[in-house]
Amino acid sequence: MTDKTRVGLIFGGNSSEYEVSIVSGHNIYNAIDKEKYDVYPIWLTKDNYFASLEDSKKVWDDPTYTIKNPHKLANVSNFEQLANLPEMDVYFPIVHGNIGEDGVIQGFFRMLDKPFVGDDVLAAAVTMDKEFTKILAQRAGVPVADWVAIKRFEYNDKNNSKLDYKYVSEKLGTDLFVKPSNQGSSVGITHVKSESDYLPALAEAFKYDDKVLVEEAITGTEVETAVLGNDDIIVSGVGQIINAKGSFYSYKNKYDDSSTTTLQIPADLPAEIVEKVRSNAEKIYRATECSGMARIDSMLRTSDHEVIFNELNALPGFTNISMYPKLFEEAGIKYTDLISRLIELAVERHNHKKTLLHKPE
Ligand SMILES: Nc1ncnc2c1ncn2[C@@H]1O[C@H](COP(=O)(O)OP(=O)(O)O)[C@@H](O)[C@H]1O
Ligand SMILES: [Mg+2]
Repeated sequence: MTDKTRVGLIFGGNSSEYEVSIVSGHNIYNAIDKEKYDVYPIWLTKDNYFASLEDSKKVWDDPTYTIKNPHKLANVSNFEQLANLPEMDVYFPIVHGNIGEDGVIQGFFRMLDKPFVGDDVLAAAVTMDKEFTKILAQRAGVPVADWVAIKRFEYNDKNNSKLDYKYVSEKLGTDLFVKPSNQGSSVGITHVKSESDYLPALAEAFKYDDKVLVEEAITGTEVETAVLGNDDIIVSGVGQIINAKGSFYSYKNKYDDSSTTTLQIPADLPAEIVEKVRSNAEKIYRATECSGMARIDSMLRTSDHEVIFNELNALPGFTNISMYPKLFEEAGIKYTDLISRLIELAVERHNHKKTLLHKPE
């Protein structure tokens, strides 16, 4: 036995960001401070099995690797045994989107009574839903793009006025974004520029979720900032996404080699705009009760230089070239130290929660 902290690094999952998660997991594994931590890779397969230690390393060498006889997760308490793991001191889930970023795996760690990196159940669940996050941002006084939310039951009612392009365009204008409320990586999102785009865009978004947002399009550039901490927080500088004219930050632009998008870190923007982006991010982080980390994305509107909040990512991409670690690198926190700090924050939160009473003494 060593006296190093044992870290269960969980990656994979079943979302559109599966591949990103595999890369994020591998990068964290390579960069984590091996003097302090014994790290155990745990691959969460697409069909929701926790793979054994041996299988988990194989997927990094061959992303197409699949398990023929997966260890089935019988019950929560058998988890470490099934994955051939020693008892862990802390978990680092880097599973984006569905299950990993929405409070589900966070609830699992709460049941295991183990510390875990990143946001707790409530913040993860709330910030996975773009509408709830926008409502909280508004409540904190941060501007958001105006929107109409359409629930499945409304979509199924063909007489519902929200399905009428005239109704939404009178309210929001004719330049619109249609998106699933709970998704990531720009999946299911359409930039709607005319009436004929509208119903197909709704059909596309409803493939992924039971709630779809129709938003006014904000014309401008995208700015992102990173937050780290529990009660005491550090807000990084601001990075900017430079999309080719007329295109948005689509799945292809995020991950494809032929992407025409570039990241500019730090953003070349006036100090007062940078401060606005950062102070808005702090307000949103507090309003959504985040802890550990989050990346907060906004649009800088060209017409009036207003900073309009777009969405919060509770488990941002963590590859070496991802915005979140890059922003902290620019702030003087190296990738390896960022990982250590996130683990410390997980343990601090867990230790604090232990001091709370569940009933009167
Ligand atoms: N209201 C909007 N106005 C302008 N562009 C938008 C708007 N909503 C989304 N986009 C574009 O679509 C991209 C993906 O949308 P986003 O809401 O961030 O979802 P995801 O969780 O998939 O990243 C954004 O990065 C931006 O380029
Ligand atoms: Mg986004």
